Amino acid sequence: MPSIREKYFELKKIKSPYLNENVIRALLMHTNDIRSPLDLTLNMEKECKNCAKLAEMIENIVSGVPYQYVINESIFNKVYFYVDNRVLIPRNETEELFQRTVKLINELHLENKIYLDFCTGSGVLGISLKLNYPQSEVYVSDISKDALDVVKINMNRLNTNVEIVESDMLNNVLSLNKKFDVLISNPPYIPSKDTVDKQVLEYEPHIALFANPDTRFYEEVFKHYKELMNEKYLLAFEIGEDMEESLILLIKKYFINVKYTFEKDIYNKTRFLFIINE
Ligand SMILES: C[S@@+](CC[C@H](N)C(=O)[O-])C[C@H]1O[C@@H](n2cnc3c(N)ncnc32)[C@H](O)[C@@H]1O
Repeated sequence: MPSIREKYFELKKIKSPYLNENVIRALLMHTNDIRSPLDLTLNMEKECKNCAKLAEMIENIVSGVPYQYVINESIFNKVYFYVDNRVLIPRNETEELFQRTVKLINELHLENKIYLDFCTGSGVLGISLKLNYPQSEVYVSDISKDALDVVKINMNRLNTNVEIVESDMLNNVLSLNKKFDVLISNPPYIPSKDTVDKQVLEYEPHIALFANPDTRFYEEVFKHYKELMNEKYLLAFEIGEDMEESLILLIKKYFINVKYTFEKDIYNKTRFLFIINE
C-alpha cells in the first residue's frame, strides 16, 4: 500500500486542468477520512486508505465532472455538506454572504428568530443558519423536488431540522402565513449562457443558474415583503456583479425609506445586497 505522500506525488504528475493542488488535497482527505488540511499534512506518511477508489474518481474528474460531485461533498462554513448533480455546488461568495448575514443578525439582535432561505438548493444557507442559531425556526424553499431531497440528506447527515417548503417562487411560502425576521437568498441570477464556464454549463443544474430577467427572484421578494416579513427585518441576497443599478430601481419602486447597502466581495465586485428595517 502506498503512503498518502506517495499517492500525492503520483496524482501531481497527472496533467489536467481539473486536477489542481486543491482538488488533490480534497480527494486525499476524502478517501482517508481526514477532515482538515492540517491533519492531512500531519498524516502524509500513513498508508493511503481506500486508494483503489481513487482511480475511478480521477477518471471522472479528468473528464470534467466537478470533484465535489465525484466525492459527494462540499465544504461550506467549515461544515461538510452532501452534494450531487441535483444541486448547485455552493460557492465561496455564498459562504461570504452567510458570514456577513450572521454578523448583521447579531448586530440587529435577530438571533434565534424565524428565518427563510429562499431558493435553498442543497440547503447550505438555511441549514448553516440553523446550526449557528439552534433555537431558530428555519424554513427552506425551492421549486426543485430533487434539490429538496438533497436538503433532507443534509438534515440527516448534520443531525438538524429545518422546515422544507416546495414552492414555485414564493407561492407556497406565502400560503404558510408565516412572518419571517430574516430572509437569506442566493437565487438564480445569470441572464444568459454566454458568460458561463463550460464545466458549469455541462454539469450543474440549469434551473439553479439562469433567471430572465436577472432581477426576477429579487423582485418576487420585494413585491411580497409586507406579507412575508415582520416589522423589523433583514433581507440578505447574493447578486450578480452588474445588478446594482437595476436593483436600486426596484428597491425604489417597492420600498419607502428603507435602509439598503450593497457590499463587495474579496475580489472587489459588488456581490451582496442587504435591506434592513430596524
Ligand atoms: C443559485 S441556486 C442556489 C442554491 C443554494 N442556495 C446555494 O447558494 O448553493 C438557486 C436555486 O433556486 C431554485 N429555483 C429555480 N427556480 C425557482 C423557482 N421558480 N422557485 C423557487 N426556486 C427556484 C433552484 O432549484 C436552485 O436550487
